[in-house]
Amino acid sequence: MADVTMDKLISLSKRRGFVFQSSEIYGGLASAWDYGPLGVQLKKNIQNYWWKEMTQLHDNIVGIDAAIMMHPRVWEASGHVENFTDPLVDCKECKNRFRADQIDEALLKEKKCPECGGELTEPRNFNLMFQTHMGPLEDSGSVVYLRPETAQGIYVNFKNVWQTSRLKIPFGIAQVGKAFRNEITTKNFIFRTCEFEQMEMQFFINPTEDDKWFDHWMQKRMNYYHELGIRPSKLRFHEHGPGELAHYAKKAFDIEYEFPFGWKELEGIHNRTDFDLKRHNEYSGKEMIYLDDQTKEKYVPYIIETSAGLTRSVLMVLSDAYEDEVLGEGDERTVLHFHPQIAPIQVGVFPLVKKDGLAELAKDIEKDLREDFTTFYDQGGAIGRRYRRQDEIGTPYGITIDYDTKETGTVTLRFRDSMEQVRVHKDELTKRIKTEIANYKRGA
Ligand code: GAP
Repeated sequence: MADVTMDKLISLSKRRGFVFQSSEIYGGLASAWDYGPLGVQLKKNIQNYWWKEMTQLHDNIVGIDAAIMMHPRVWEASGHVENFTDPLVDCKECKNRFRADQIDEALLKEKKCPECGGELTEPRNFNLMFQTHMGPLEDSGSVVYLRPETAQGIYVNFKNVWQTSRLKIPFGIAQVGKAFRNEITTKNFIFRTCEFEQMEMQFFINPTEDDKWFDHWMQKRMNYYHELGIRPSKLRFHEHGPGELAHYAKKAFDIEYEFPFGWKELEGIHNRTDFDLKRHNEYSGKEMIYLDDQTKEKYVPYIIETSAGLTRSVLMVLSDAYEDEVLGEGDERTVLHFHPQIAPIQVGVFPLVKKDGLAELAKDIEKDLREDFTTFYDQGGAIGRRYRRQDEIGTPYGITIDYDTKETGTVTLRFRDSMEQVRVHKDELTKRIKTEIANYKRGA
């Protein structure tokens, strides 16, 4: 199997409508990307899969959707104003800017630019939060930030949610939404961008049980990726050493994926202790204390956080699904092995030919399937070419309507991964495809 490269992914994404460069007709905006028809569906499917896994399947996790702009004191309390910084150096010659922690140590010591060899400035701390102003005056009193993580919207609502939903510890609050960071290194397509989406769940626990719950969520989150059909050999844990830990974390493990450019973080699992709630207690003057009504115990809960990138997951899913497959006799195809649950189109429907009523019959079948699956109708070109077009966008099932359909009511059901075909009665299709999705194993 040929290795996937970023060039291949970017080219397929553009050619087939997964991801486009933002503002392309104006020359593009660096680090900003737009999701096309297939990309937005894939992203929504991943989000829905996560949301179901993290809320619907638990009786003690609820959702929230907080505002992106929050009171500026939130970011003082959270420590982001003071600590959410990258050390940057500038080249005095070529004017390029670099993250000091990403430059070769020898070059940094010599203060030598990795691009042109010119002299580098001393490292300066640069805050990653985007700032803007609310209201007509652009003064310091009107500063607001675009949130750099969705988590704080959950922490400031801790009491609201606890008291209105009458949950008891341990319980979780989940949220999906945009976050913004003024990142300096934004290469690698949608991997690291200034505007991105996160899927976060904050689990509130008794402080004495932090190790137990940390281990629980580490395993759960790894299993989630396996169930999503991601190859286990491409996933691993990475524990943060003392120098790597974020200012709020006592312990952190990343789930890493082997992208075409190497092993990189996909999700962070953090023991944030009572850091955030205590700080909000201190800065807002509002008590963030939990009362256990059975034991009468009072405490500030600890938080175990699972924080995954949604837009980064889209890249991970694309990388993992991509294959240039050699089929023999000089034939080859590009195929995306998406898990059928998240494939942007689940079922392609094709009349073998347009004439003799086959097109009408195929359209009726496609309409019926729309209730349960995302579908696509295609009557253009040779049937083999139509299959290949669907393989390239990861459609797991293809249905072909032929002359036998008119006689017997049966259609051909084709499987993307194996390219095998079976005959199924059209009235059995919905049930059969649902069973296939539930039992899907990559390659079969
Ligand atoms: N609330 C904790 C938090 O935000 P993080 O490790 O900074 O932790 C969590 O970010 C996840 O968000 C990362 O694992 C990654 O998937 C995603 N992420 C972070 N910065 C990103 C960026 N600039 N572009 C795309 N995704 C990003």
